[in-house]
Amino acid sequence: MIKTTHPEDSRNYLSIESDDGAALEGLSDADIIPAFKQHGALLFRGFRFDLEGLSRFTARFCSRFVRNESGRRSQVSADGTTQSVNLGTEPFPLHPELSRVPWRPDIAWFACARPPSLEGETLVCDGVRIAESLAGTTRSALQGRSVLYTEETPMGAFTDWLGIAPPDDEVLARLSAESPFRFQRRDGRIFRQFARAFLHRPLFCDQTAFGNFLLFARYMLGTQEFPTFEDGSIIPDEIADEIREVSDQLTVAHRWQSGDVLMLDNSRFLHGRNAVRDPAERQIWTQFGYAAFLEEDDPRLAEPWRYTDDALEIFFGPHARDLAAAARAV
Ligand SMILES: [Fe+2]
Repeated sequence: MIKTTHPEDSRNYLSIESDDGAALEGLSDADIIPAFKQHGALLFRGFRFDLEGLSRFTARFCSRFVRNESGRRSQVSADGTTQSVNLGTEPFPLHPELSRVPWRPDIAWFACARPPSLEGETLVCDGVRIAESLAGTTRSALQGRSVLYTEETPMGAFTDWLGIAPPDDEVLARLSAESPFRFQRRDGRIFRQFARAFLHRPLFCDQTAFGNFLLFARYMLGTQEFPTFEDGSIIPDEIADEIREVSDQLTVAHRWQSGDVLMLDNSRFLHGRNAVRDPAERQIWTQFGYAAFLEEDDPRLAEPWRYTDDALEIFFGPHARDLAAAARAV
């Protein structure tokens, strides 16, 4: 029998549980998609699956998957779509997956192949709840503001990757027009930037949510410079601290059981983890994908990373090769 339990304060996800080891793949899309859109976080517990079955299941909801190249993950499936979580032991502050790049995936999947016997809980927090729980003055101060991610693009990305001479400002402007990044020259170096609303609209709900790289940057990496506000100014500590305090109150520490699968709307929910006692014991598989069930008129369907793994096209825009050829011909 399958039992569905609605979220409550101590559990901010909808729980769908089988008491007799039913096949995960036996669940219908109609059982899942409306619930996912409404709640943004689902836990499947007690279902039976193996790695291939899990991948067939997640592929019903994701049109493509993206790999997280950040270190200390191991490859679980041969195609690299399924990876382990980070294999270190340190606790991680709340973050959406890959929110520091334009191609943030829509859905974060976590499946527990082997639970830790102690600690190592995965933290789950609803960014909509964070946004609505901020002080009114903070929310007003953040209305209309964006977070800006600025990183250097080494000259080699243009010369080696695109095969062009070091670009002049005209070439940078043409690349910027089609890229999700804006390229800018500063002191002889080239930086790329992209911005996203500080309190943004998630994929499937009308309320705004907090969900970006700020908490990870401040409380894990100790940087104030990535992200900043859209004008390059530092986001004040008081704002970061308030968001941390509010989100701490709203965070659920999920204790894993073998076979648990979490499906998170990565545009709405943040995740993190408590310290891990024994990384060899904690086996959690992850997949990050783009939703296959956006409405036909959703403007996000124009985003190139939903259709291609071609890094050049994703990074520099769909006509990067044409632009590079034109730049070479000049
Ligand atoms: Fe993560």
